[in-house]
Amino acid sequence: MSHSTDYIGKPTSRVDGPAKVTGAAKYAAEYNVANLLYGYVVSSPIAKGKITKIDDAAVRALPGVHEVFTHENVPRFAFLDRSYKDDVAPGGAPFRPLHDAAIKYSQQPVALIVADTFELARYAASILHIEYEEEAHETRLPTQLDQTYKPGRGKTGYQPPKSRGNFDQGWKDGVAHMEGQFSHHAMHHNPLENFATTVEWLGDKNLKIYDKTQGAFNSQQYVTKVFGLKPEQARVISKYTGGGFGSGLRPQYQLFLAVMASLELERSVRVSLTRQQMFSFGHRPATLQHVALAADTYGALTGINHVAVAETSQFEDFTENVVGWSGTLYQCPNVKLDYRLAKLDIYSPLDMRAPGAASGSIALEIAMDELAYAAGLDPLEFRLRNYADRDQAQDKPFSSKKLRECYREGAAKFGWERRTPAPGSMRDGNLLVGWGMGGGLWDATQQKTAAKASLDADGHLTVSSGTNEIGTGTYTIMTQIAAECLGLPLEAVTFVLGDTTLPASPLQGGSWTASSVGTAVADACAALGEALLKQAKKMDQSVFQNAQIEDVYFANGQLRLNVNPDAAIVLRDLVQASGESKIEGEATAKPDMAKQQKHSMHAHNAAFVEVKVDPDLGTIKVTRVVNAVAAGRILNPKTARSQVLGSVVWGISMALMEESVMDHRFGRYMNHSLAEYHVPVNADIHDIDVVFVHEEDTIVNPIGVKGLGEVGLLGVAAAVANAIFHATGKRVRDLPITIDKLL
Ligand code: MOS
Repeated sequence: MSHSTDYIGKPTSRVDGPAKVTGAAKYAAEYNVANLLYGYVVSSPIAKGKITKIDDAAVRALPGVHEVFTHENVPRFAFLDRSYKDDVAPGGAPFRPLHDAAIKYSQQPVALIVADTFELARYAASILHIEYEEEAHETRLPTQLDQTYKPGRGKTGYQPPKSRGNFDQGWKDGVAHMEGQFSHHAMHHNPLENFATTVEWLGDKNLKIYDKTQGAFNSQQYVTKVFGLKPEQARVISKYTGGGFGSGLRPQYQLFLAVMASLELERSVRVSLTRQQMFSFGHRPATLQHVALAADTYGALTGINHVAVAETSQFEDFTENVVGWSGTLYQCPNVKLDYRLAKLDIYSPLDMRAPGAASGSIALEIAMDELAYAAGLDPLEFRLRNYADRDQAQDKPFSSKKLRECYREGAAKFGWERRTPAPGSMRDGNLLVGWGMGGGLWDATQQKTAAKASLDADGHLTVSSGTNEIGTGTYTIMTQIAAECLGLPLEAVTFVLGDTTLPASPLQGGSWTASSVGTAVADACAALGEALLKQAKKMDQSVFQNAQIEDVYFANGQLRLNVNPDAAIVLRDLVQASGESKIEGEATAKPDMAKQQKHSMHAHNAAFVEVKVDPDLGTIKVTRVVNAVAAGRILNPKTARSQVLGSVVWGISMALMEESVMDHRFGRYMNHSLAEYHVPVNADIHDIDVVFVHEEDTIVNPIGVKGLGEVGLLGVAAAVANAIFHATGKRVRDLPITIDKLL
């Protein structure tokens, strides 16, 4: 890094903003490709059984229909013999579209109709005749533990929760107790951009694939393995993603169908899913949780018991860390954790923003509120009395943990000290006022990532890495980091992403992109800096002759000597003098495992919520939220704040609205549209204040960044539920908290 901090830490507007608001930014279904065919997916109306008959004669008779792909005629690919697992595939066998006659879940794709236009394909789908033999299905999460099982191996990185101490003894040692069942229903990501893939047939099995994804390389690997193609035959491009939230972590079935149809028909093909079909490929799993907590006379936790039962499909063990956080967030000697699954006739769940932690923190943080009341303590004071200065679950120190500061600064901003504890004790006219809090932690990780930095003869820097931008601000923060490293104005830097011809980058997810790609960008710029110095040494009578990299810095588009800033060379002159069109630097950044393994690395937050409840109507308004976050270095307070604002809106949404309503008679989500899947509108959202507490961390990664995509969501829904209790005295443990549950 250079001397100055001109860009890092400064609120910076999105560099991709103009492209987005003018429509120049292209999404997967917006690439105009010559002679394009359109696919329309036919979805199963039954949840379990098999296809007994397909009559496609009427469809094939339609002029403009090119093909009707079903399991009866789909070509056999490599995939059909050895199941390919994508980067975040759970344990089990990934679903194979159009593989056989078996129906495993409602809305399973059963046919792809390819036609000259989307409208024709859709019409054709409406007259395709398919007969099914239905079997009894089960889509209801069991309440009996003996109908559930402990997953063995889940997806990569899944660790079964670890218990410690003796919970039964801890329970007996307590003088204050709470015990409760918590539940929430399935929730769907619902990004605004529907899933779509446009495959451009370049001839001879060479494809250019525009895919909606959070991982261009993951999509590419899937395609090459499934269809037996070489990477250069399957270039995947994904420049913009209209919302991910986890929905694009796995290659979705439209990718398979579009590539299959393109290879078979030797044509360019686009397959777009409808909004209804956006409910057919993964969701935050419905989860039942049981929490029991006990505390002693001081209010110190003596026992924590947290059990979760989540739904999964018949073919994969989708796992997430729901209960593990309960062993880390608070100090407690006796912790008993269990995580179990139940196989249902549904599609496999899928990571959704703060997977596991968002769910777990609902139960844990409502439970903490309940126990605070049982112990006669203010919920904030209760948490401070149970503050964990060390990660007892991993028995490691934290690399940094400024949660106390989150509590302090968040509470001060909110005015928490004015809270009167008794439920129903605060009023605004006839409205009941409630104040509640919650919070949590999220893993701060770094993944191996490559990047390249290239300075051209005009002095323009292009930095690239094959990551994705899902709306979080990746284009912007990478531009800031690069500009900072090489002392260039933001306008002189372009960050390029979303293409498998670029340096390899992991999935955009897990809140690790800022840390992983950011470190790679910094390293690539450092490598370019070395190359520029090398060129400077070669110049006639160079004052840089004996300079080492520590002796120089970059500012105002120049390379300068520390001891004599006037001894400077303009960077573009170095490129011009080199006789080449550009000077480049490349790097692959990996986590420093030796350093990181000795520490527990997490981002933390504390959210404070005010609700106003109409006692006659039961209507709930979240009037104020303060969310204080400790996430290491904040690269761009503007985009960072947007991340946390989005999280707060989502937390309110989880608490009060979001629910994919399953009609168990059909085994189908019934509210599969944006009209009926409720999310907040502007009128539902009021004051939201975001506080970033100062946190320096030299262990987590070289740039000290912990990531912000997920942490802001934690405990927000619980804080809303706790505020509702404070307002009304009514404890609702089944989310969303709708009016009928409150009255
Ligand atoms: Mo996030 S659920 O890893 O996209």
